[in-house]
Amino acid sequence: MLPANVFVSGHPLIQHKLSILRDKRIEPKKFRELIREISILLAYEATADLGLKPVAIETPLATAQCAHLTETIGLVPILRAGLGMVEGIWEMMPGAEVWHIGLFRDERTLRPVQYYNKLPIAPTVQVCLILDPMLATGGSAVATVDILKQWGAQRIKYVGIIGAPEGVTRLHKTHSDVAIHLAAVDERLNEIGYIVPGLGDAGDRQFGTG
Ligand code: PRP
Ligand code: URA
Repeated sequence: MLPANVFVSGHPLIQHKLSILRDKRIEPKKFRELIREISILLAYEATADLGLKPVAIETPLATAQCAHLTETIGLVPILRAGLGMVEGIWEMMPGAEVWHIGLFRDERTLRPVQYYNKLPIAPTVQVCLILDPMLATGGSAVATVDILKQWGAQRIKYVGIIGAPEGVTRLHKTHSDVAIHLAAVDERLNEIGYIVPGLGDAGDRQFGTG
């Protein structure tokens, strides 16, 4: 059973697209399209509890009682692989700000190494969606939440595509207030920290660098 605050989508569209995404035969173009589409669907689920305020809108016929979002949203892709998750989600919420965090995993220690962070001194958004397709050891996700909390972010959600049990547990135990949204939790990590069966290297497969 999954802990509270960890959500693995059972949506048929997401599951169908994920099966194609995992296939080693697909080209980077198709891989990028699927990352984009799955990200939109996951973000749709992850944002279901955003706040709304009532607004009155004049239609050509009458006044309609409607609703607008109350919170400002920040999309926080972790470079590089999180980049492919941004554009589609951004189209669904064009008012969002995008703040990049640059981290890579040291191949030997599997620890995250930070190389880019241009966050301003004070937080400018109320809800942060961390975007990164792969939650492996959880080191990069935990480091990113640490950075955002230090920045003063109040509400943080993690939107990924595949998690390893180790990474999900680590992120949840370290930051239990952060909701985790995924398309799948796989079997395990292998000896070099890759998710099995996973999909390989998400950055390389998007950018054709593998
Ligand atoms: C991948 C992935 C995550 C990280 C996950 O990035 O996109 O950021 O590994 O691993 P973790 O949970 O063990 O920290 P990678 O370090 O390969 O960098 P890249 O996206 O620049 O290729
Ligand atoms: N990063 C990836 O891109 N894939 C994995 O399986 C683990 C980390």
